[in-house]
Amino acid sequence: MDNKKLKIIGKNRLDGSVTISGAKNAALPGLAALTLSSGKIKISNVPNVNDVRIMIDALQSIGGDISFDNNIINAELKNIKSGVFLGDNVGSIRASILFLGPMLARNGYVRVSQPGGCPIGHRGVDFHFEGLKKMGAQIEIIGNDIIGKTNGLIGVDYTFPGKTVTGTENLIMAASLANGDSILRNSALEPEIDDLIDLLNKMGAKIRRDGDNILIKGKTSLGDAVHEIIPDRIEMGTYVIAGCFADNNIIVKNTRPELIENLLDILRKMGVKINIKNSDIIISPNKQMSPIKLETMPYPGFPTDLQAQLMALLTQTDGVSQIKESIFNNRFNHANELNKMGANIVLSKDIAQITGVTQFKGNKTVYATDLRASAALVLGALIADGQTIINNASQLFRGYENLPQKLSKLGADIAVIN
Ligand code: EPZ
Repeated sequence: MDNKKLKIIGKNRLDGSVTISGAKNAALPGLAALTLSSGKIKISNVPNVNDVRIMIDALQSIGGDISFDNNIINAELKNIKSGVFLGDNVGSIRASILFLGPMLARNGYVRVSQPGGCPIGHRGVDFHFEGLKKMGAQIEIIGNDIIGKTNGLIGVDYTFPGKTVTGTENLIMAASLANGDSILRNSALEPEIDDLIDLLNKMGAKIRRDGDNILIKGKTSLGDAVHEIIPDRIEMGTYVIAGCFADNNIIVKNTRPELIENLLDILRKMGVKINIKNSDIIISPNKQMSPIKLETMPYPGFPTDLQAQLMALLTQTDGVSQIKESIFNNRFNHANELNKMGANIVLSKDIAQITGVTQFKGNKTVYATDLRASAALVLGALIADGQTIINNASQLFRGYENLPQKLSKLGADIAVIN
């Protein structure tokens, strides 16, 4: 990715409203699911972000007829070239792993680079492989490539050893075209998984969630569908947290507040005044915020994808807060970067201790290590005295649609520079 930078002059008054885009982590499995059908599929509210564009390129590279305009995907994957190597680009994102299940189900062969994605620690895929092998797939690693083959997938009763979002999505897609019925136990509960189930059922699949068990009736083929991606709960949470730094009411529009209930509870406990009006979340300015202790958990617990953004906010609470990161084993890379701006964050293993209130000063050398870390640095820069340059800002454009434009509309002084 080219090395864009963000230049932010802090302490501008933030005011007004921001509209949430479609969920990246629902759009990515939705795109992979297109390989399951030779029908005509229209998906709207797809965020125009880098990871989505990489998945679209990959689908075109295997012969997919797919267009993407005004956040709408129109696709028809009548004949997929099998055995095609889904190029290096796909290997740069985690979602590449999502081609395994559907392409094994559709044409019995797939070759894809080992998944990349954010450097936030161990990104296992053993549960994906274990489940697919139980369904009758052979999985081989040759160099940096994963090669999957099968003479036909069979329905399975599989219990995930641990909660995995893309692992659950992969096996749901594989089981949709398997021979026989499947039950996936100890499945992840993230809303993006249910959005994928909704899309697949519209394509003719037969999938039902019963708590953390997912029941799938294998079909012989899937067809046409029209679907709208759910709003992005992590983008929602990011702008709600940004609203806590503002001097006036900030309105976050086109939300599904129930998807970030855990964050809203935590912010209310910290003393933030939050009102909900239909799909609008209104955050009122507050000067005094209290510190808090929390742990990241699988959904519906506090999401690891909002941990970095909340850490930035906790630097402005009066006292000592603590975050325990329980999902990934290296997801505090943003702490040092926030400390460069004036934060007081001490790390020990999976615990970050944040002491506030600290004054932030602009810094020209902060570095965006991963997607959500880059959002935390933007939040820190908004409240810093003077100019901040966020290096490696391309990370941000992997998952936030039009972030500079959305923040400028709220009054921030932010620009993309090379
Ligand atoms: C998804 O990643 C999201 N990405 C991540 O969002 C999110 O942080 C993560 O779920 C957790 O909520 C997408 O949906 C594209 P996992 P995923 O499999 O599926 C271990 C963002 O910022 N594990 O639920 O890769 C794994 O190592 C990104 O948008 C295994 O050990 O996460 C991790 O510690 C970052 N073996 C934990 O489970 C496996 O086979 C959770 O991983 C699978 C997972």
